[in-house]
Amino acid sequence: MSEQTFQTLGEFIIDKQDDFKYSTGELSRLLSAIRLASKVVNREVNKAGIAEIIGHAGNQNVQGEDQQKLDVLANNLFIEALSQREVVCGIASEESDDFIEIKATSNAHLNKYVVLIDPLDGSSNIDVNVSVGTIFSIYRRVTEPGTPVQLKDFLQKGVKQVAAGYVVYGSSTMIVYTTGNGVNGFTLDPSIGTYYLSHPNMKFPTTGKIYSINEGNYIKFPQGVKDYIKYCQLEEGDRPYTSRYIGSLVSDFHRNMIKGGIYIYPSTSQSPKGKLRLLYECNPMALLAEQAGGKASDGYRRILEIEPTELHQRVPFFCGSAAMVTKAEEFMAKAL
Ligand code: AHG
Ligand code: MN
Ligand code: MN
Ligand code: MN
Repeated sequence: MSEQTFQTLGEFIIDKQDDFKYSTGELSRLLSAIRLASKVVNREVNKAGIAEIIGHAGNQNVQGEDQQKLDVLANNLFIEALSQREVVCGIASEESDDFIEIKATSNAHLNKYVVLIDPLDGSSNIDVNVSVGTIFSIYRRVTEPGTPVQLKDFLQKGVKQVAAGYVVYGSSTMIVYTTGNGVNGFTLDPSIGTYYLSHPNMKFPTTGKIYSINEGNYIKFPQGVKDYIKYCQLEEGDRPYTSRYIGSLVSDFHRNMIKGGIYIYPSTSQSPKGKLRLLYECNPMALLAEQAGGKASDGYRRILEIEPTELHQRVPFFCGSAAMVTKAEEFMAKAL
């Protein structure tokens, strides 16, 4: 094992301080809140089966989904950890109807960042012991520090993100993030509760052999997606491709980044805007994809250039190895 393997996430943040164009101290505070909350969520996810925290919470979120107990728990844990950092002025979450304002403390000038989270991604997989995740996205506010945070602080294009990442609670727990200068992955050693750099400078293979889509909805897909799926299944060159779909965006993305592949959640006849949320899921994954040499699109346009109009906005999502996303876009354009 190289010495680098033993670098901790904390050391890495300090080492790479020049990568972040704003104050490192601010980024460290943000990432340490996320790191801490992720360890607590990890503990809860791991004991879900014996702690009476599997199953429904008994209510729906603003998107009309049944909330799982762990959705609510993870949401509270992340909000609690982030609220205690004076650099955070507001939090928006898939599980909360509206954004939350964090009031400025004595150091009002520090109160500069908004955080958007999908506290538990793939939550329908909890009850069956399949990997779930957390996704986060961080922006500088556009309004003055020290004043109440406003909706426009959250409705920024994805290109404006200063950092984004995810945690995957899988066969091992990892944190993967970018501050706009490449993507790095850290694996949790649960015995001592420390993340170590395990996947430096992660890159999507330019192309791959995996396509990830909920094919059960085939009949509802737009023609371009149907045509692309048929292309993936054709016996020609390196095809047919392999189909892999976990149903947790984080895990599907993570596998595709390592092995090469494409993830698609398209529009359907019932949901013309698809299912995934632009601000909590697609923008952070798109930034990670691009930073790892991959690509993210809504089938026609770059995800990161989309101007958001509402907090819980949905968008079709095509993301992964660059050549595969470009090919899928060709099929979308042809079917117009
Ligand atoms: P969440 O659990 O945060 O609501 O997200 C679920 C998302 C995503 O993780 C996954 O890829 C997709 O929904 C699965 O949806 P289908 O079951 O419709 O395929
Ligand atoms: Mn959900
Ligand atoms: Mn999700
Ligand atoms: Mn979720």
